[in-house]
Amino acid sequence: MRIHLDDVEELGTFVELEAVAPEDSDLSAEHDKVARLRTELGIEDGAIVPVGYVDLILDAGEALLRAADAAMRNAYAPYSEFKVGAALRAPNGAIYAAANVENAAYPQGQCAEASAIGALIAAGETRITAAAVVAEKVEFCPPCGGCRQRLSEFAGADAPVHLGRPGGARKTVTLGDLLPLSFGSEDLEA
Ligand code: THU
Repeated sequence: MRIHLDDVEELGTFVELEAVAPEDSDLSAEHDKVARLRTELGIEDGAIVPVGYVDLILDAGEALLRAADAAMRNAYAPYSEFKVGAALRAPNGAIYAAANVENAAYPQGQCAEASAIGALIAAGETRITAAAVVAEKVEFCPPCGGCRQRLSEFAGADAPVHLGRPGGARKTVTLGDLLPLSFGSEDLEA
């Protein structure tokens, strides 16, 4: 058995369990070994990365853009007709995506980024390592000022923010580019 401890930039930290099989193996013994080790290490189903993470490493931004795009399709934006999706990556690699939710009382509407932050927080996460924003009607949708501040509560200045479309043109900036000289909790302590 091989145990890999991987810290992948933009994606998170992972444990990879690898059973090395002899050529004539039907893999059942190896599957058992991995399952036993998983139990001993307390790795629960919720912690399993559903796709081969090597695929994600190839293009972490693309995976985020895809998730944002899928959420964008469900946006509730009957008033502006401007659908937006946002996806956030947590330190464990999980992605939380959501869309804008408007309201007949216009100021009660919520940006996609705010919705996605709610999903990430509800899942027990408190840090954002990368973000993506996709809009239906524009090639690049820069997060609004309020959402830059919302993201900065949970993401560092070096967190990448991918703007664009999956499979399309993309601009990748950092949160620090979008929100220089930001106000944060440390400023409350002065
Ligand atoms: N919107 C977002 O969801 N995120 C942004 O960063 C920019 C604006 C939404 C809010 C509103 O529902 C619609 O886009 C038009 O402003």
